[in-house]
Amino acid sequence: MTSNSTETTPKKKLSSARLTQPTNAFVEEFTASVQFDKRMYRQDIQGSIAHATMLESVGVLTKAESTQIIDGLNNIIIEIENGDFEWSIAQEDVHMNIEARLIARIGEVGKKLHTGRSRNDQVATDVRLYLRDMIEPIRSELFRLQDALLNVAEREADTIMPGFTHLQTAQPITFGHHMLAWYEMLVRDAERLDDCEKRVNSLPLGAAALAGTTFPIDRELTAKLLGFERICLNSLDAVSDRDFAIEFTSFASLLMMHMSRFSEELIIWSSAQFDFVDLGDAFCTGSSIMPQKKNPDVPELIRGKTSRVYGNMFNLFTLMKNQPLAYNKDNQEDKEPLFDTIDTLLGSLRVYADMIAAISVKKDNMRNAALRGYATATDLADYLVRKGVAFRDAHEVVGLSVAYGIKHKKDLSELSLEELQSFSDQISGDVFEVLTLEGSVAARDHLGGTAPNQVRAAIRYARSQREAD
Ligand code: ARG
Repeated sequence: MTSNSTETTPKKKLSSARLTQPTNAFVEEFTASVQFDKRMYRQDIQGSIAHATMLESVGVLTKAESTQIIDGLNNIIIEIENGDFEWSIAQEDVHMNIEARLIARIGEVGKKLHTGRSRNDQVATDVRLYLRDMIEPIRSELFRLQDALLNVAEREADTIMPGFTHLQTAQPITFGHHMLAWYEMLVRDAERLDDCEKRVNSLPLGAAALAGTTFPIDRELTAKLLGFERICLNSLDAVSDRDFAIEFTSFASLLMMHMSRFSEELIIWSSAQFDFVDLGDAFCTGSSIMPQKKNPDVPELIRGKTSRVYGNMFNLFTLMKNQPLAYNKDNQEDKEPLFDTIDTLLGSLRVYADMIAAISVKKDNMRNAALRGYATATDLADYLVRKGVAFRDAHEVVGLSVAYGIKHKKDLSELSLEELQSFSDQISGDVFEVLTLEGSVAARDHLGGTAPNQVRAAIRYARSQREAD
């Protein structure tokens, strides 16, 4: 169809007795959403079945009517899943496609389903049901990634690496401790998802177009049938609220941001210059021209996809900011950014969990890097403080020792006792215990510290929390 088409459609629309002229064919396509909202067919039918059940219980439908409607809807699910359903642009969206098909299948009684309901509360309900259904797989992929991190942390609880600030070697840490930092971020992400879920899990149905309905509906029953914990308490808000979708994309943006930062480290670490980790061939690709290349495509792509999720979040914020109450057609634009966020996040988590589970660590390279960077300088300063030197003076002594080491190409642990004593007479033979990498990490032995036994304790705690969930 061309964009300047003026053809009109001869097809009868379900909702348009008011309109005497057929819709311009391109307008029909332009305003339709079935192309992307048909993925909510299950939720749409689930919502309709609950609505019909409720209408029967309050006496608006007879038992025979609701049974016919529900059977018809269940058969439509089968039709759709067998690929026998013909989606039509002329029927605009998932809701009208299914309703039209219901009427075609069961006749006149099908026309009663929409009693006391509007597409406005229907679509708001479908989107919430759909998102609620997708939160479960997202949570389980997030947990799988968390578990992969805990397993790597356990395996590498004693593995020493340089810790960085400003990407300059700072102090020795354990690789296990580093993995647990990422784990902590993902714990917060899981909490945010739980919190978001509470607000997703609220029933709009019953708000009808915007003001409620004149039928004696029982919203508590509908909520119970659909497993909603709450009911949207104001009909205007119910049909126009998309906060829950914005919250979800905000949660997703934060989580993607965490994975993107982590990706940045994996990319740096797998470069020939760092050479700390091996990501596994399954997660990398070669170059079409440079035969030596093994590119960290997965982390790079996650970094790239993060921007697309941010884009979806801003898309929704911007979509909502100028809308007067109540429903506006603008809201149809909520679906693609929301669905894209769900798909992108699910895929990213899935590949990430697998990639972290497969990561291998080049211990010698990390240890050597920690040795090269004067990573135990703070330990020497702390040692001097314990001998009674004020911290600022100790800082100065160590600074001079490091400058000396750089000049003579020696690590602090490689300086002789005499050399060290030339900077402070408080230094004695026991200094070498703190100058080793192992001594340095083991000494940071408190809650949240990098000592291997703290790392193990943190892993035990994390696992006990998961079991308590
Ligand atoms: N396809 C529409 C949407 O996604 C359904 C609601 C339409 N409501 C209306 N009054 N036109 O938002």
